[in-house]
Amino acid sequence: MKILLIGSGGREHCLAEKLSKSKSTEKLYCLPGNPGMLGIAEPLGLRINDYKRITEFCLTNQIDLVVVGPEAPLADGIVDILSESNIKCFAPTKAAAQLECSKTFAKYFMRKHKIPTAKFRKICSENIDEAMEYIESHSFPIVIKADGLAAGKGVIVANNAYEAKAAVIDMFKGKFKEAGKIIVVEEFLEGEEASILAICDGNDFLLLPHSQDHKRIYDNDEGPNTGGMGAYSPTKIINDEILKKVEEQVLKPTLNYMREEGTPFVGCLYVGLMIHNGGVNVVEYNARFGDPETQAVLAHIEGDFAKLLYSAASGNIDKSAIRIKKDLHSCCVVLASKGYPISFEKGFEIKGLENIGNEDVFLYQSGTTLENGKLLTDGGRVLSLVTVADSLEAARKRNYEEIEKISYLNKYYRKDIALKGI
Ligand code: AMP
Ligand code: GLY
Repeated sequence: MKILLIGSGGREHCLAEKLSKSKSTEKLYCLPGNPGMLGIAEPLGLRINDYKRITEFCLTNQIDLVVVGPEAPLADGIVDILSESNIKCFAPTKAAAQLECSKTFAKYFMRKHKIPTAKFRKICSENIDEAMEYIESHSFPIVIKADGLAAGKGVIVANNAYEAKAAVIDMFKGKFKEAGKIIVVEEFLEGEEASILAICDGNDFLLLPHSQDHKRIYDNDEGPNTGGMGAYSPTKIINDEILKKVEEQVLKPTLNYMREEGTPFVGCLYVGLMIHNGGVNVVEYNARFGDPETQAVLAHIEGDFAKLLYSAASGNIDKSAIRIKKDLHSCCVVLASKGYPISFEKGFEIKGLENIGNEDVFLYQSGTTLENGKLLTDGGRVLSLVTVADSLEAARKRNYEEIEKISYLNKYYRKDIALKGI
């Protein structure tokens, strides 16, 4: 089949690799893609939000499946637009994507359907006094979240009233534009975080191996939140008993109630969990594959990934299309630009990629660009490197050895990825 993949990050590079290696893929296009994807996917010269031209392209070229990586097109309703022309998408509609695109939608959904999550209050910018009073009366830490999309940066864990109030004022003043004009003030959850990715067809789902992200910029989980600085899979935190709880208390009710409410969820449902004393709480939903979790998780699968996504998009998931490799551990470290996620310089030449091992090592590009034949840094998160081995220790060790072979000015990465899993 012919597939169009939307997006340009490390997640999409990894998806492109899995799709291009799938038996049922005849041709893969990407929009916009990145330099790492050249050779496995043909880039389209369209704007990523020109949905009219994207639709025309799909119809003219008889695209069988569109796979959407990032959240912005989902929030715009790309799936609704393409579906009007009967173009099949592995991704949720605008209504279903609200699980990610509106924190208040997700929180009310979970409250209504008794899906375990932190207690919260929704407050609008007109009611700043209510926010200040609520903070005064609350214990700390407390969590302040912008309602809308903020590239993973709209969540502040405040340790005292001063930090909490400052975060609220920043958001109400427009730090995240409209996304922060409504906020969720949430109880702080203790525990260990883990990420679950489930391939969903609206009714049923296939769980992929669990993973753990590292969201803060500095070692020991310090500094501001980022899109994600590294991941490993599987985790030690999730055992069979917890997995059962995740399925029964979170995944099944989420899919059932979304369907009952007339907004069935098709696509990759990402559940960010907090696990504490054997109990699970949902920290967030994402309506898409995680980045960098996808790079760590897909290292475990073999088979026809394209067939899996196509079957899910068709409403009849074929779980036998892929297999999860046994006894494998993966480690993914993100190489970023120093200064990310606040401010950073770009345009530095990336060298040494030719020295990276080719067995059990996978390199994905994200913030890169090609200029006069040179590969340059072009974003906050530049590359992600994945290694697999029969133990997490070995995968981790190998990863940090390989990273040394890559050089560019202002290269920054965390040194403690996966330590929690060892
Ligand atoms: P989110 O974008 O909602 O996943 O939040 C980003 C990060 O903030 C999460 O991965 C957690 O590390 C942290 N976080 C969010 N909500 C809470 C909470 N209620 N309690 C503790 N930490 C949280
Ligand atoms: N790694 C977190 C995310 O993709 O949102």
